[in-house]
Amino acid sequence: MSRTKPASPPVSLKGCRVLALGSALGALGEGPLLGVAMEMGAVAQVEQLVPGACDLVIVDADALEAAAVAAAVKALAALNPAPPLLVLGANLTPGLVRNVLRLEAADILEAPFAPEQLVAAVQALLAEALPATAQEAAGASRCWAVTGAVGGAGATTITIEIAHALASASGKDHSVCLVDLNLADGAAAAYLGATPTLRLADFGAAADRIDAAMLQAFVTPVSKGLDLMAGVRDPSAFDAVGRDAVLRLLEVTCECYDWVILDVPRHRRPWTLEVLAGCDEVVVISELTVPALLAARAYSDEIEQGLGTGLRPRIVLNRLAARMFGPAPSMVEAEKALQRKAEAGISSDWEAAAASANLGGPIAQHRPKSKIVKDVQLLVERLASQPPRREASPKAA
Ligand SMILES: Nc1ncnc2c1ncn2[C@@H]1O[C@H](COP(=O)(O)OP(=O)(O)OP(=O)(O)O)[C@@H](O)[C@H]1O
Ligand SMILES: [Mg+2]
Repeated sequence: MSRTKPASPPVSLKGCRVLALGSALGALGEGPLLGVAMEMGAVAQVEQLVPGACDLVIVDADALEAAAVAAAVKALAALNPAPPLLVLGANLTPGLVRNVLRLEAADILEAPFAPEQLVAAVQALLAEALPATAQEAAGASRCWAVTGAVGGAGATTITIEIAHALASASGKDHSVCLVDLNLADGAAAAYLGATPTLRLADFGAAADRIDAAMLQAFVTPVSKGLDLMAGVRDPSAFDAVGRDAVLRLLEVTCECYDWVILDVPRHRRPWTLEVLAGCDEVVVISELTVPALLAARAYSDEIEQGLGTGLRPRIVLNRLAARMFGPAPSMVEAEKALQRKAEAGISSDWEAAAASANLGGPIAQHRPKSKIVKDVQLLVERLASQPPRREASPKAA
């Protein structure tokens, strides 16, 4: 996405390995430091650290004996290179402050502090310590967009199955975020039996305020690895939410998750092309009917021409039936109408799709043996094995 970068871009926290001393710090990994790999430890672990074993040490001085804090600082002073250190606490002694600030990369945050102050301090320390190439690698999330060629083609259903498959494969907490960009009346939350929390309209012109700390208020955890970001139903959302807010939200989301999967409305919005340009895959879902195939071809051409980057949407044919009733096109005829190869086909299984929507959750959870699950798995494996095609994640101007 070609936009002006902020003067000093924040370092992504995603995947950063943090060793935390003080039991209250555990909550940070679910809050302001969402996305970091947080390990709770003790002074002995700091004393045994080897160079490169972690990216940051955070010590809650209020939770430890003064001697333990001093021992941790001493151990880091003896390590070369040492990870940066952030010490949190109220009433820190001048002696401790002096010793901490003598370290090559260290900072102190006096309690009480706001979550944004903590995130800023962590990012500043990581930026100081990480070489530029490592910073780039840490920010390398992948973003796929899914959109329907016609209404009801199955875009939301397939978005959910793709996001669930990636989260299961990753095995990591909070690795995937499904973002429903149908801001007015998206169905992803209802299909997942989740409660949407995003009220993007509230931000108005203050889109710049959206940061990693706020993101956790916008997402609903669906499973261990999958979070959902979906708007509270609001008929005027598309008019009330500006381009900057959408782009900034996606930029921050890409900084916090390994995978970001978007359910994109098919009617173009002021932000649509910029969002798609920030994705490394755009998947257009079609049915196997002549009108849907013609719409898929036109829609996919419009996206390709609008982007002008060479990125070609991949067309996926949904609800393929084993036995066709009536004159439905065959796969070969479908590809003729599309004037290109379809990327994949997803079998039809109304029972599995309806049961899962009614129960609330992915088809892979409620009907794991459905052919839909196997077909989506193949699609995900195929797409994931492709090198990322975009140049940058979605970013706000
Ligand atoms: N492979 C499938 N087999 C059977 N039913 C399916 C399949 N995929 C989707 N469906 C069903 O088709 C209907 C429409 O699906 P979905 O809501 O995902 O479409 P959509 O493209 O997101 O629609 P919209 O245009 O309203 O956003 C739902 O009832 C869903 O359960
Ligand atoms: Mg939908």
